[in-house]
Amino acid sequence: MFQAVRGTRDIFSPLVEEYVRLEAIARRLAAQWGFGEIRIPTFEEAGLFKRGVGETTDIVEKEMYVFEDRGERQLALRPEGTASVVRSYVENNMHQKEKNCRLFYVANMFRAERPQAGRYREFEQVGFEVFGDPGPLADAEIITLAWEIFKSFGLSDLRLSLNSIGCPECRGPYREKLETVLAQMISQLCEDCQNRHQKNPLRCLDCKKCSEKVRAQAPAFQLCAACQAHARIVEDLLGACGLTFVNDPSLVRGLDYYTRTVFEISSPVLGSQSAVCGGGRYDGLVELLGGPATPATGFALGVDRVVEARFKEKPPASPPLKEQAAFLVFVKAGPKAVEYGFGLAQRLRQKGVSVFCSSATDSIKSQMRQAGKSGAKYALMIGDDEFSKKQVLLKNLQDSSQATLSPEEVMTRLASPC
Ligand code: HAM
Repeated sequence: MFQAVRGTRDIFSPLVEEYVRLEAIARRLAAQWGFGEIRIPTFEEAGLFKRGVGETTDIVEKEMYVFEDRGERQLALRPEGTASVVRSYVENNMHQKEKNCRLFYVANMFRAERPQAGRYREFEQVGFEVFGDPGPLADAEIITLAWEIFKSFGLSDLRLSLNSIGCPECRGPYREKLETVLAQMISQLCEDCQNRHQKNPLRCLDCKKCSEKVRAQAPAFQLCAACQAHARIVEDLLGACGLTFVNDPSLVRGLDYYTRTVFEISSPVLGSQSAVCGGGRYDGLVELLGGPATPATGFALGVDRVVEARFKEKPPASPPLKEQAAFLVFVKAGPKAVEYGFGLAQRLRQKGVSVFCSSATDSIKSQMRQAGKSGAKYALMIGDDEFSKKQVLLKNLQDSSQATLSPEEVMTRLASPC
């Protein structure tokens, strides 16, 4: 027997409905906030993520699904969406078409992480990217948008953490100081950090194994005046929208492309994998991927975790009765009566009525049980008798009342219930 591959899963009702609802909210708000949808490829050249996300990040070093295609090209399943959107932005010369380009995507991502609750190897993200705006307002706007999506979806218990990781100017001198400290504590570092402490010392601040001891000895990070001013305005703008946040200097994010503003939103009901959303500014990425220097900012939310948080905050009520729905029950029905019922079901569906049916060969008891489970308000009972008189027995499954009606009367009753 085949089983779903480790870290992947099938998603059923009632979870599926919540995925659809969240995506619909994201699409509605995207339109309201001026974002156009982009569909990105499932796989890209592996080099795109190596350069974009960073050679020494966990995502690229350990978690990417890399494979060689028949043309001996090194490809990777997308582990995230930002690098792909930037690749598309550059490839399609979008900077020439639109000064302030805003794109969003709904896409599954693939990371070979160690699976656990809330951490999957295939998971869904909804991401938003804003190009061409260097100002703090764009950062505050995307954070506010993320918050609005969660609020509209019905999540109430959320934490917003905010930090600024500065620009290359203020990070340069810090990087040097940190490198010296790391060299002094090299024997205490994990193998990854020993390898990357010179190539990318800042990554050691985010290492799952070493971050605590590194942070304890790391020098204090000093933002330059311009970055400080930028961060202050982001905070003031969030305050103007009534958003409360925690300043978290340890928030550095696991992707290399960030500059200045970084943020995460987490849900305390989720346990260890509590981040439902992460993002920030990435002013150098467009240029790094071959485009003109273009400031950018964005975020992605993890749909699986958001849906799980919603279920934990508010377990779903039993599904509501479908007022305008009927279940077709065949009662000793010969082939002609089955055709008669099948035709009526089709006409009702064309009028917008939901009609469910089982196999005409099932027993009446089994069909009635299925009717009860379907959530339909009515059972349409059809047998040879009903067929010969061109009638239908309509049973109200809630109060068990029933009436013998013509197909036209059934159509009128179900298509416009009182
Ligand atoms: P990220 O923090 O790697 O950022 O992922 C964003 C969100 O995706 C996380 O907060 C989490 O909810 C969800 N997520 C990540 N990994 C998993 C997993 N293994 N299983 C389930 N959910 C997961 C990015 O991907 C950036 N591209 C965000 C961004 C967009 N920054 C700027 N623009």
